[in-house]
Amino acid sequence: MRRNIDETYAEALEFTVRTLVMAERVKPTQYARRLVAKEMNPSRRARSISAGMLYNVLTRRGLLDEITEDVLDIADDVKDLDPWVRNACRVVVNEIVFERLPTDLKAFAETVADIVAEGSNPGAAAIVKGFTFDVADYEPPEPEDEIDRLKWEYYHPRWLIETWLNWFGDVNEVIELMKANNRRPPLCIRVNTLKTTPEELAERLQEKYGVDVQKGVFLDEILRIPEGLPIGECEEYERGLFIIQDEAAALASAVMEPEPGWTIVDLCAAPGGKTTHLVQLMEGEGKVIAIDIDPVRMNRLKKLADRMEILDNIETHLMDGRKAPDELGEGFADGVLVDPPCSADGTIPKNPERRWRITKDELERLPPFQLELLEAGARMVAPGGVLVYSTCSMFPEEDEHVVKRFLDEHPEFELVNIDIGDPGLDGTQEVARLYPHKHDTCGFFIAKMVKVE
Ligand SMILES: C[S@@+](CC[C@H](N)C(=O)[O-])C[C@H]1O[C@@H](n2cnc3c(N)ncnc32)[C@H](O)[C@@H]1O
Repeated sequence: MRRNIDETYAEALEFTVRTLVMAERVKPTQYARRLVAKEMNPSRRARSISAGMLYNVLTRRGLLDEITEDVLDIADDVKDLDPWVRNACRVVVNEIVFERLPTDLKAFAETVADIVAEGSNPGAAAIVKGFTFDVADYEPPEPEDEIDRLKWEYYHPRWLIETWLNWFGDVNEVIELMKANNRRPPLCIRVNTLKTTPEELAERLQEKYGVDVQKGVFLDEILRIPEGLPIGECEEYERGLFIIQDEAAALASAVMEPEPGWTIVDLCAAPGGKTTHLVQLMEGEGKVIAIDIDPVRMNRLKKLADRMEILDNIETHLMDGRKAPDELGEGFADGVLVDPPCSADGTIPKNPERRWRITKDELERLPPFQLELLEAGARMVAPGGVLVYSTCSMFPEEDEHVVKRFLDEHPEFELVNIDIGDPGLDGTQEVARLYPHKHDTCGFFIAKMVKVE
């Protein structure tokens, strides 16, 4: 039956709901999207509409779930719903409450119900159809207070806004940060300077793909491409002439200032963005001992290094980094980089759903683990060697506090001033902080220390 709903829009709805369901099983979301695109082969226009819809659903996810729970009157959790119902409800709330669409509610409700019936069962479809009409009558409650208003206006969880306010002190600063988190950042690429130059590659990408290529803000080897580079079809990418890497992340290797011939340990190395950069910075002469505990991510590191043709400079060890000094020895490395797992609130501009995944609990659980990794890394630094600690977190709990605790116990290490970005918080000035709203990068933290001889 032909309904009064634009066919391309209907196709985009289906593509979005199916991607969201797939993304609950397969990570990352962009990979799930590619798998669904292969199965569905949606039109170009539907892909483009769905890309925007998907981005908005991921950005607003916590709020969409809150409204869904309210409308369905399930006191507990959307987690218990059938995945097709859960994700269709997210799209429905996004389209009706936030986007003020569609014009024909009945046709919209039937279209979404059909998508759910096909993916799940008629009972699930009936729930979503009834839900759609209820959402159309939904009146959002008045904000309880200023934080609640900010939460609904800028789509961030309340506890995150409160925590940032606590650290940054100024509400306008937090608003600017949230606005930057809601802007899609330019694609940042790092040129493989062992194979080409930034100028050559920029010219080539501009000519061949008609894209605008801008210089990095901090590093010559970084190029920024606001939009339109078809990475999947890009022969220059396949040939390892560049990799995708945020400029702030690239700064972590750059501040180490490694020299050709160095031996460097990268303690949490996979998928290899920083390891491969370190090899580049040593001009292809030297060795990086790349350690990681995750075999899948380690394979990605090897593939990346292979594509860049620098695998010979990298020695990989699949192990718990905390055991590395016992296995590999102490005091031998010219440089050690510790880039441990973190809450990753700095990556929200790239991964909009991240804001809904981070928990307060992580801020208590992760720092002791990060400190253990830093301690292990430090044991491998040679006298006079360099120790770099970096995270894509903006929380001092994972940054300055870890470094301060480490330095309190290790007078043989001294902080080196890094004059990039903003200084540190909570009394640790010498480190570098980068923010999406100030530096147009991901949120990032870097501390550089030397082991006194
Ligand atoms: C922030 S990521 C590292 C990103 C990497 N430095 C890069 O630039 O591509 C953190 C890494 O730590 C690894 N990891 C987690 N626990 C670890 C452990 N106990 N020992 C070593 N690596 C660990 C994770 O598998 C993950 O790859």
